[in-house]
Amino acid sequence: MRAAAFTELTGPNGVSVVDQSTPEPGRGEATVDVAACSINHHDLWILNGASAMVDPTDLPFVSGLDVAGTVRAVGEGVADVDPGDRVLLCPNETCGDCRFCREGPENLCASYSLYHGGLAETACVEASRLIPLPDGVDATTAAALPTAYLTAYHMLRRAELEPGDLLFVPGATGGVGVAAIQLADVLGVRSIGTSASASKLETVAALGADHTVQGTDPEDLREAVASIGAPDAVINHLGGEFTDLGMDVMRRGGRMIVCGRTAGPTSEIDIADLFRGHKRIIGSTMGTQTDLERLVDLVATGDLSPRIDRTFPLDETGEAFRTMEERDTLGKLVVTTGE
Ligand SMILES: NC(=O)c1ccc[n+]([C@@H]2O[C@H](COP(=O)([O-])OP(=O)(O)OC[C@H]3O[C@@H](n4cnc5c(N)ncnc54)[C@H](OP(=O)(O)O)[C@@H]3O)[C@@H](O)[C@H]2O)c1
Ligand SMILES: [Zn+2]
Repeated sequence: MRAAAFTELTGPNGVSVVDQSTPEPGRGEATVDVAACSINHHDLWILNGASAMVDPTDLPFVSGLDVAGTVRAVGEGVADVDPGDRVLLCPNETCGDCRFCREGPENLCASYSLYHGGLAETACVEASRLIPLPDGVDATTAAALPTAYLTAYHMLRRAELEPGDLLFVPGATGGVGVAAIQLADVLGVRSIGTSASASKLETVAALGADHTVQGTDPEDLREAVASIGAPDAVINHLGGEFTDLGMDVMRRGGRMIVCGRTAGPTSEIDIADLFRGHKRIIGSTMGTQTDLERLVDLVATGDLSPRIDRTFPLDETGEAFRTMEERDTLGKLVVTTGE
């Protein structure tokens, strides 16, 4: 089978399509003929050599978390899925018996990690992580859901928002950002989205943002956001100076949910404002398999249409990462291998 492997951790030019042996499922596993795998900034961190999870000794490395396709074969002891089933992978990997797994939510697992291997024609996965796809949900659409929408969904749960509340989403045009805007709309939560690009913001408004603010310098955004209102919560996937911006504009008692650091790995916060304002900063990573099942239901019922910017054939996976790196995207980028 062919795989779009990272052969060097030097950015998008480090992706090469290579031949590998087709995996066979072991006990509790299934192989999936991948129809679509969306890419995330997470994969780009790895490709840029900026992730502690992968180093040059791991090369060639096949990334790709968000796998949708058709079960090819199942290993011993697998009863819940059969060859031919259309499925979506929940990329969570958990131990199943630490205190956090027992008490839940499962994404708190002490040895939590993520599946990698979807940027290939066939992926070998834990069968219990496969979610059946209803007929009305195609593989490309499904592949958009796991990392970006799952993360945003879980963050919104943790933000404890009520209908009519106001949510601030700095960087509302990428995977997590668009997902947060669309899911806020599903919840009846008003939202403010930002982007460096005015033209992208027209689409963000059409996707459900109630307010949009153009700009990329947190200082410039501060006044414009404050003039709209004091957000009840902030979805922060940018980190850096955007943390201070979000904390500053947020209302008393507001919640900032943090999942990323695209704009910087450290942030300064005003401690007095934090405690005097009864504000909360909450870290969050991915979500639960049940969250993902809920998202599949929302797509099946027509309540959510994940925004897919472009699809790329497996051969052009490097180009997909270049597009992400250049911020030339609005929504998800999906690599397809043809169903
Ligand atoms: N912890 C978790 O479970 C988890 C899960 C998913 C993602 N993440 C993290 O969350 C972040 C977003 O992931 P993603 O896949 O959604 O990424 P993405 O699609 O590449 O996000 C692009 C968005 O980020 C904005 N952006 C990019 N660089 C920026 C900068 N230097 N300053 C300001 N805005 C910038 C873009 O704004 P423009 O419109 O202005 O270009 C766009 O809105 C990543 O850091 C990722 O690692 C974490
Ligand atoms: Zn565990």
